[in-house]
Amino acid sequence: HIPARLAAAALSLALLSTSALAEVKERTLKFGYSTFEAHPLGQGANKFVELVGQKSGGKIKMKVYPATQLGSETQTISATQGGVQDIVGTSTAPLAGLVKEYAIFDFPFLFANEKEADAVVDGPVGQTLLAKLSEKNLAGLCFFENGFRNITNSKRPISKGEDVAGLKIRTMQNPVYLESFKTLGANAVPMPWPEVYTALESGAIDAQENPYGIISVNKLNEVQKYISVTKHAYSPWAVIMSKKLWDGLSEEERTIFVSSCNEAKDFQRKFSRAEDAKIVADLKSKGMMINELAPEEVSRIKTTLQPVIDKYTATVGEDLVKQAQASI
Ligand code: PAF
Repeated sequence: HIPARLAAAALSLALLSTSALAEVKERTLKFGYSTFEAHPLGQGANKFVELVGQKSGGKIKMKVYPATQLGSETQTISATQGGVQDIVGTSTAPLAGLVKEYAIFDFPFLFANEKEADAVVDGPVGQTLLAKLSEKNLAGLCFFENGFRNITNSKRPISKGEDVAGLKIRTMQNPVYLESFKTLGANAVPMPWPEVYTALESGAIDAQENPYGIISVNKLNEVQKYISVTKHAYSPWAVIMSKKLWDGLSEEERTIFVSSCNEAKDFQRKFSRAEDAKIVADLKSKGMMINELAPEEVSRIKTTLQPVIDKYTATVGEDLVKQAQASI
C-alpha cells in the first residue's frame, strides 16, 4: 500500500507543479544596476536571477547589465518606470526624489549597526516603502544592502566634523546627503555615479562616500588616499520591477519574484558582511590610510546634523520615524 500511496502523492505533486507552472510565461527580462558583478550586490543579483530561473522551471530568464551599462541610478529608475528596463537594482537614496518617505533611510546615524538596519528595512517601514513605489509606476520586490557609508578623500584623515569643512565632496542625488555635508561646511555636489571616478582622478572633487565594497571594486584607492570610518549613513539597495510588467504577471509569477528576491537578499547581506574585513585589509595593503573616529566626535557630528534630521522628519512624517524607532 505504501508504495502505491507514495506514487499517488508523487503524481499529485508532479501535477501540482506542472499546473502551477502553467501560470508562468516564457520571459527574458532586462536587469540593470550600477555596481560590478564581482561586488556582493552583483553576486546577490546573480543569486536572484538563478532562483527565479529555478522556481520558474527555466521559463523566466534575466539578462543582467551591471556596471552602469544602462546608465546612472536615476536614469535606470526612470527607464524602469517607463517599462524600457524591466528590473533595476539601486541604492535607495535616489528614490527620495520620487517618494519623499525614502529620505528616512538617509538620516545620518539612523542605524548603529546592521541588526538595527535589518529590523527597520525588513519591518513595517520597509514594507510601506516598497509598497509606495507603486504610486510611481514601480513595484518594489525587496531590499539588498549596499551598507554603511564611509568618507574617502585625497586631502586628509577626517577625525572630527570640522575636518569635512572645505572638502569638495560628491554626494548621491539626494537632498539629505547634500544638506548634511553642506551643514558640515563641505562644498557638496550631487553627481551621478558614472562620473565620480573621473572627477576624483582629475581633482574636480576631493572626496566621496560609499561602503567599503564599492570603494574596493571601483578601485577608488587609485584616486583616494584616506578612508575615514564615519558610518554616517546606511544604504539599503532596492530591487525594483517596472509596474507595467508587474501588473501583467500572474500571482504565481509574482510569488516567484518576491520569494526569490527575499532568498537572494539573505544570501547577499551575509556575503556582503563577510567580505568587509577582507576588503579593509586589501585596501590597506594598497596604501589607503584608514582611520576610525572617536565616539565623542561621532556624537558631535550627529548634534551638528540634528537640524537636517529634524527638517526631514517633517518631510517623511513623524509617524514613520516613530515606527522606525519602534522596530530598532
Ligand atoms: O554612491 C552611489 O551612487 C551608490 O552607492 C552606488 C555606488 C551607485 C551603488 O548603489
